[in-house]
Amino acid sequence: MMKAGVLTLSDKPDDIDLIKERLASWCDERGLDLIVTTGGTGLSPRDVTPEATLSVIDRRVPGMEEVMRAESLKKTPHAMISRAVVGARKRTLIINLPGSPKAARECLEAIAPALPHALEKLGGDMSDCAQS
Ligand code: MTE
Repeated sequence: MMKAGVLTLSDKPDDIDLIKERLASWCDERGLDLIVTTGGTGLSPRDVTPEATLSVIDRRVPGMEEVMRAESLKKTPHAMISRAVVGARKRTLIINLPGSPKAARECLEAIAPALPHALEKLGGDMSDCAQS
């Protein structure tokens, strides 16, 4: 069964050290398969979620970032402001989503078709993807 977490820090939502610490411990101690963060991806001084995420991931998944942005741009030009990062720390996938519920839903829908396969591969599935 998949273990997933949504990172909500209602007391201190934009504390970079707290976000880093929480992301790392959810990956390393809880062994989650997926962590989704919401908000803090924009350009205001308090937006630090991408920096926190970059500091804890081993491998970035630029394709998922690009698809979220490309699909979001079809909805609003403001999508270009989001600096959302997607990456893996060991076997955990971390996905940054923008903060508004509508934006978060649109971004998640954009990457949903590849999400199960991404999680399988990250979890250690070594099978050949090629379909002849
Ligand atoms: N992406 C989608 N799909 N739809 C949206 O409405 N809003 C944008 C952008 N991405 C939006 C979106 C806006 S207005 C901002 S400021 C940035 O996400 C960053 O949002 P955040 O700081 O809440 O993460």
